[in-house]
Amino acid sequence: KEHIEKVQAFKADSKESIEAFRIEYLGSKGLLKDLFAKFKEVPNEQKKAFGQAINELKEKAKEKVESLKETIESKEEEAGIYGDLTRTAYPMEIGARHPISIVKNQIIDVFSRIGFNVSEGPEIEDDWHNFTALNLPAHHPARDMQDTFFIQTDPDVLLRTHTSSVQVRYMEDNKPPIRTISPGRVFRNEAISARAHCIFHQVEGLYIDKDVSFADMKQTLLYFTQEMFGKSKIRLRPSYFPFTEPSAEIDIYWGLETETDYKITKGTGWLEIGGCGMVDPAVLTNCGIDPEEYSGFAFGMGVERIAMLLYQIGDIRMFFENDVRFLKQFSNAL
Ligand code: PHE
Repeated sequence: KEHIEKVQAFKADSKESIEAFRIEYLGSKGLLKDLFAKFKEVPNEQKKAFGQAINELKEKAKEKVESLKETIESKEEEAGIYGDLTRTAYPMEIGARHPISIVKNQIIDVFSRIGFNVSEGPEIEDDWHNFTALNLPAHHPARDMQDTFFIQTDPDVLLRTHTSSVQVRYMEDNKPPIRTISPGRVFRNEAISARAHCIFHQVEGLYIDKDVSFADMKQTLLYFTQEMFGKSKIRLRPSYFPFTEPSAEIDIYWGLETETDYKITKGTGWLEIGGCGMVDPAVLTNCGIDPEEYSGFAFGMGVERIAMLLYQIGDIRMFFENDVRFLKQFSNAL
């Protein structure tokens, strides 16, 4: 009885003391061995009680050893696998949205308020969707306006140079009225500098319906720049694109009261943010839309250019370097 109490009270904090305990009770020269040896000397009438008592002691001692081992092992495991579970959490950096995503989402937001949906297409394109359908047949000199990356040696497979290719796909698959914007990455074989990169992002827009006019286009673009930049003016400067006629460059002048307050561009203070124009009837025909019935406008803008204006970023390469000191500065933006 006294032994059983001792066994139950035993506590251990190391594997060594558990082993010492096991040897003391259960070892080949241990207490239980002695007790079993004494069994023969016990008078017959006490044998039953004595036998039960030592068996109980043996069971209790075994149980004790097992349970102590388990506790110690699980403690070791926790320490090894999880470390100290009570320590203060290690601070984790929370990421920030990339400025290109922020600006792209804002543009989508502004256009979705006036009924434009979002369309997407492949970055690897065929000649038809990037050029030919857009009134740029093979050998057309205007193909050189956008230096193209071709995939291996197949001249029919290329990296899209603009998301106008998505607009072709959209017109092929949908009947007017069409109001869609196509955001996405585009690729041009250009030397990388502070102002230009071989990869950048565009948002192109397309509006096709009955009786769409140049004035509708200008008002849509003015609405956009005012939503995006606040107080701003736009200027449409005559230009040329094979897929629109007439065509124009979109210049923006924004934010400040007088031209001399304007700090971003020196000189006139006007800055080009994209191109636009009335969709050429030949493009509508190529995409299965009757130009006698429908007309429309299209525009395309560079997302980097807009982000550089909004955040006063002087070098386009910043967007692609993923320097955390740059990216972190956008952690408060949505
Ligand atoms: N696709 C032209 C470009 O990438 C932009 C543009 C789109 C111009 C639509 C006019 C109309 O340069």
